Amino acid sequence: MSSPDVRSFTVGAVQENCHIVRADAQASKAVIVDPGDEAPRLLEAADALGVEIEAVLLTHCHFDHVGAVAPVARATGAPVYCPKIEVPLLTDVMRFVPPGFGPFENYVPEHELAGGERLHLAGLDIEVLFTPGHSPGHLTYATGNALLSGDVLFQGSVGRVDLPGGDWATLEDSIERLARTFPAETVVYPGHMGVTTLDRELATNPFLTEIRARLAAEQPVSAGAPRPGAAS
Ligand SMILES: [Fe+2]
Repeated sequence: MSSPDVRSFTVGAVQENCHIVRADAQASKAVIVDPGDEAPRLLEAADALGVEIEAVLLTHCHFDHVGAVAPVARATGAPVYCPKIEVPLLTDVMRFVPPGFGPFENYVPEHELAGGERLHLAGLDIEVLFTPGHSPGHLTYATGNALLSGDVLFQGSVGRVDLPGGDWATLEDSIERLARTFPAETVVYPGHMGVTTLDRELATNPFLTEIRARLAAEQPVSAGAPRPGAAS
């Protein structure tokens, strides 16, 4: 499985991770995921890497993930791909920004995504997955061995579910679907905090206890081992 070249930049007051993703370290085109703030720094980073930004992909439209969408799209000419049911947050950004943050510009995205799509951008084959729970339209982008998973799963934690449209059972189901769909060694590039793997989170993340138990219960019993509850 291919390993895309992912460069992560932590931006803004809420320390959000924006990712510049390209097929490999020599590729001249890239996509940018969740440009949340500090547009000049992100544009300089793309220049320094020598890449042209071919598309802006959004996992969800909380302000810390979309604050730099308008200036990045304007400077690069790249189209913006946005979760369909969260478009109203992007087109009226400041309505959803807590006092003390911003100002951020509105943006009308060129493309709306619901999950289930397949995108071919910057030489990347990108699967779009619907992963609600932290926000109602949340998307995860899968390419090669990488998941760009926004605020679904963090290193040792998960996305909060106390914001409008958040729901723990829904988020847990989204995480479980990712865990069942992708190999354990899949690298997770989250919207906050450090890079991790599905493997590591399934082994250690305290919020994944029930998922861990369900997956363990499905493991085939190895030959020769007594079945639980079997008479000896
Ligand atoms: Fe968020």
